[in-house]
Amino acid sequence: MNLTIPTRRAWLSLCSLLVLYPIVAGCKPTTPPPMPLSQLNAQQMRGHAIFQASCSQCHDDRDSDALHGPSMLGVFKQQYLPSGAPANDDRVRVVILEGHGMMPAINLDSQDTQDLIAYLHTL
Ligand code: HEC
Repeated sequence: MNLTIPTRRAWLSLCSLLVLYPIVAGCKPTTPPPMPLSQLNAQQMRGHAIFQASCSQCHDDRDSDALHGPSMLGVFKQQYLPSGAPANDDRVRVVILEGHGMMPAINLDSQDTQDLIAYLHTL
């Protein structure tokens, strides 16, 4: 078969796509899965319930999709929060208690905040 130059080019790009796509897709940064709910300790379970009540209407926790705000999946596995602030307990406590940009302040006592942060560490 005598392939014309454009057809050969098309084949070439198709082949390189097939070869390269899995490599490129394999390099995509993937967030490790959250700890299964069945493995959470008592404090983390309380934090899970608080998340459901106070955060889940705006944030996903076990899924990377953004709702009104960014997903909390892997929030402490990354070095920075979406705003660029360091992802540590103190910073997240301030975001929760004082709000941030479009996020309202959430009224939680210090025990609930601590339990919630313990849960966020399992994501
Ligand atoms: C009414 C919706 C809403 C609720 C409820 C809410 N958030 Fe948010 N949250 C947002 C939005 C919107 C943003 C993005 C804010 C911005 O940067 O403008 C955000 C951002 C964040 C950030 C990232 C801050 C940064 O520095 O990038 C964290 C962490 C966070 N929220 C945690 C929580 C937690 C934990 C709760 C539950 C106690 C909660 N949020 C409840 C809407 C909400």
